[in-house]
Amino acid sequence: MGVIMRSMLLTTLLAAMLAACNNGGQSGAAADAGGDIKAIQFVATQDGQPLAIDVKMFDTPAAKEFLATGKNPYIGNEEAIKEGKKRFNLYSCVACHGGHGEGAVGPGLIGENFRYSKNATNKGMFETIWHGTNGGMGAKGFGLMAPDDGLKPDDVLKVIAFIRSHAKITGNE
Ligand code: HEC
Repeated sequence: MGVIMRSMLLTTLLAAMLAACNNGGQSGAAADAGGDIKAIQFVATQDGQPLAIDVKMFDTPAAKEFLATGKNPYIGNEEAIKEGKKRFNLYSCVACHGGHGEGAVGPGLIGENFRYSKNATNKGMFETIWHGTNGGMGAKGFGLMAPDDGLKPDDVLKVIAFIRSHAKITGNE
């Protein structure tokens, strides 16, 4: 492929990504004024390999901020924690992890001894919930759980805020 072709492709791709980040009227934390894409790189909990998640799914201010920084803005937000609790029940997390994430047939989620130490961070826990593990934790991300079902990134952040509301750590440390 020629250099010109390649740079045209790149430009088109960048424009599409910027458009995706900027819809909804938010200035888009994932893109700065210079047009640089600032997005964290996700990795799968299974094998540490890069994990592609469509940036268009990060469609709320909180989700965009998370995409840019890896920090969960919903930590400590009572409204978000309430919403997260609903989803924790709706998606059966409660059945395997207990009503407050204290653990049941599945491990406790409030620390301090995580099976995967990365789950002490909100980015790590997001990746685990989104894409699952090798040892009995199914992917819950939208389109992975079922083609038209699963948690959107914003939902995952709320679920994490609920889990952290029972933990000593915030995951944003
Ligand atoms: C069918 C039972 C089941 C359901 C439902 C389930 N999990 Fe899990 N989860 C597990 C098991 C088992 C593990 C341990 C996996 C492993 O060791 O690889 C796990 C691991 C985890 C971990 C990593 C814990 C650690 O110690 O590192 C997180 C975070 C997690 N689950 C969150 C969730 C959330 C949030 C939901 C709901 C959206 C959910 N799980 C639903 C069974 C379940």
